[in-house]
Amino acid sequence: MLITGGAGFIGSRLAIALAARHRVHVFDNFAAQAHPAPATTRIALARAGVRVITGDMRDPAALGAAMADTRPDVILHLAAETGTGQSFSQPAHYVQVNVLGTAHLAEVVRRHAPGLPRLVLASTRAVYGEGACIDESGRRAQAVPRRSDDLALGRFGLQGRDGQPLAAVPTDADWPVAPASIYAATKLMQEHLLRQAFWGSATQVGILRLQNVYGPGQSLDNPYTGVLSIFCRQILEGRNLAIFEDGQITRDFVMIDDVVRAFVMMAETPVMPQQTLDIGSGQGITLLDVARRLLLCLGASRDRLRVTGAYRPGDIRHAVADISRATAQLGWTPRVPLDAGLMALARWSGRQLRHPAARASA
Ligand SMILES: NC(=O)c1ccc[n+]([C@@H]2O[C@H](COP(=O)([O-])OP(=O)(O)OC[C@H]3O[C@@H](n4cnc5c(N)ncnc54)[C@H](O)[C@@H]3O)[C@@H](O)[C@H]2O)c1
Repeated sequence: MLITGGAGFIGSRLAIALAARHRVHVFDNFAAQAHPAPATTRIALARAGVRVITGDMRDPAALGAAMADTRPDVILHLAAETGTGQSFSQPAHYVQVNVLGTAHLAEVVRRHAPGLPRLVLASTRAVYGEGACIDESGRRAQAVPRRSDDLALGRFGLQGRDGQPLAAVPTDADWPVAPASIYAATKLMQEHLLRQAFWGSATQVGILRLQNVYGPGQSLDNPYTGVLSIFCRQILEGRNLAIFEDGQITRDFVMIDDVVRAFVMMAETPVMPQQTLDIGSGQGITLLDVARRLLLCLGASRDRLRVTGAYRPGDIRHAVADISRATAQLGWTPRVPLDAGLMALARWSGRQLRHPAARASA
């Protein structure tokens, strides 16, 4: 098996889990922003018997050599730039890594691994933009993107085309896509590229749209990704948490162990689901509530936060997955309750920040 981005937060855990039963290769360029301690990750992967190929998705020769060398039966494509906010200031870079990198992957598979049975993409719920909503009479409706002048006036709620207030409901893959950031647009393009490139071929393409993944191993140093890791660091450094908008932004936090299990099932199941699947906890929680729970886990006062009213372009208001298709087609359901996952994250973060020399991204 070959895992692109297999040195990252999700990829490294996935590689280690799969290495117990398979020959696993990782292709990763150890992008500096995601890897404050690359040596620690390399050691953890090597100990698990994972072979690491250092290379860049933007370099088709390196990717082709890795493909010819490893001849994988399954590719799990996780390599990506992942910062929503950062993507607005670096659109060309995000397109090069996420879109061009995926196009290179499709080309080298055709050239060096024709007949590859299975390719799985780590996509994101960000492709939905605001996602599924209902109006006051319970009818399904699409929210329009929130406008900066509304947000500046503290009007954070969702509205339909005619200005009617909307409420978010769990989103599934039948809901129309409407990416609201450059990052989301590049992830959607990854989906389209892989579906088109392997349409009608022997290669089956599986797509998992992940909600907010969290847990031990998520970088405490990368300011562009992983809100709960960022909160952990701020709490442990004695800072107060700044909660955006009115604190009522909702996210669906899914624990890393559950996400790794979903990818393992996609890699190993005899018949892989062909339809796009949503992977989340299926439960929404406000950022205010989750911040308070994290403060509790870390033994800090629940008052150490401030709801700022600040907002960021591209942030969507509510995200909750409808995971019924993943359950029906893959047999997957999340197992880790949020409080248990938060406690695991809090303990791990505490250890990392007390012993920075042992800082591990794996
Ligand atoms: N973590 C989440 O909450 C989340 C949510 C939705 C989707 N995803 C998707 O899951 C995948 C993995 O995310 P993650 O959270 O593990 O992120 P991560 O940043 O920890 O891992 C991404 C990996 O890709 C590698 N990479 C980046 N640019 C590369 C390049 N040019 N060539 C080769 N490798 C490169 C990085 O070095 C890193 O190891 C991504 O595709 C992301 O879009 C993650």
